[in-house]
Amino acid sequence: MSIIGQAIEGVEKAKEYKAHRLSVAPMMDWTDRHCRVFHRMMTQRAMLYTEMVTAPAILHGPRPKLLDFSAVEHPVALQLGGSDPRDLAQAVRIAQGWGYDEINLNVGCPSDRVQSGCFGAVLMERPALVADCVAAMIAESAVPVTVKCRIGVDDQIPEQVLPAFIETVAKAGVGHFVIHARKAWLQGLSPKENREIPPLDYPLVLEMKRRFPELTICINGGISTLAQAKQLLDQGLDGVMIGRAAYHDPAATLIGADALWGSEYAPDAHQVVLDMKPYIAAHLAAGGRLHQITRHMLGLFTGRPGARGWRRVLSEGATREGAGLDLLDHALSQVQATAA
Ligand SMILES: Cc1cc2nc3c(=O)[nH]c(=O)nc-3n(C[C@H](O)[C@H](O)[C@H](O)COP(=O)(O)O)c2cc1C
Repeated sequence: MSIIGQAIEGVEKAKEYKAHRLSVAPMMDWTDRHCRVFHRMMTQRAMLYTEMVTAPAILHGPRPKLLDFSAVEHPVALQLGGSDPRDLAQAVRIAQGWGYDEINLNVGCPSDRVQSGCFGAVLMERPALVADCVAAMIAESAVPVTVKCRIGVDDQIPEQVLPAFIETVAKAGVGHFVIHARKAWLQGLSPKENREIPPLDYPLVLEMKRRFPELTICINGGISTLAQAKQLLDQGLDGVMIGRAAYHDPAATLIGADALWGSEYAPDAHQVVLDMKPYIAAHLAAGGRLHQITRHMLGLFTGRPGARGWRRVLSEGATREGAGLDLLDHALSQVQATAA
């Protein structure tokens, strides 16, 4: 198929898919499969992203460990890292069997490890290579291939490089971009600082939507409430991706989010714990540890009476040998006792 044909097909696929109106960001060590199941208990609609998995890891590593997920997680997007078109294409071919709903390429991660492999945010400087990567991925993918990027890196001028980057990559067939609305400074800042220090530029992302109305443009970076997300959607953006706030205060950001799709699904936080129990029980029965799941649930009652007790009981007890659902009940009783 011609490049333009691929571009149109990519855009068509992306348009069919509206789960990205709200999504939870890919976060290494955080958004593992247990975390995603937990988030799914709060929103039936939002798109959930995996942690980044590198293409070489999929080619040479333990695939079930890297790629398995639970059916309940749908819609779920696999984020890949890499910069070799052949490796990425092969990773997509392999991952195809797992049934992800979207494949996303990481062009935003600034960590040293990622830079040394020439992928992540440093690829903002190499749009032609990104275009080759996504073209190779699209050729292997039955689902939309999307890109998560920054507005630029180091001394790049975002107003110039971002539209040029989007244009080049869209021509290769990508119809859907998630833009973390700040630069990555590749020298001198830690990954954490790179999520905090470079200033946010939402107007530039809004401008990209005006400039490329046919593309799906989602915004990311510093969004911490549903009201803020709604405001950005109302300004014409196609989607909002929430990272740290969804992890640290999931109830505030994810419970009630389904109203964005006209759904009334909004269980309260207690119900979410009860809904997690069968999943936790199955994990324990299969030899898993309680902490592997509950470590993602510590923020569930953030800002509510009893939040500290909940957090304390789980942090102190869940790593212990044999810790089970009774500990979860005990933690929940802290919240109920304080609320009563
Ligand atoms: C612990 C952590 C790990 C992250 N890992 C990834 C990753 O694997 N891939 C990626 O594209 N971004 C990663 N990010 C960046 C987030 O996806 C997101 O772009 C960033 O946190 C800004 O959004 P926020 O302000 O809503 O948190 C990570 C962020 C955090 C806090």
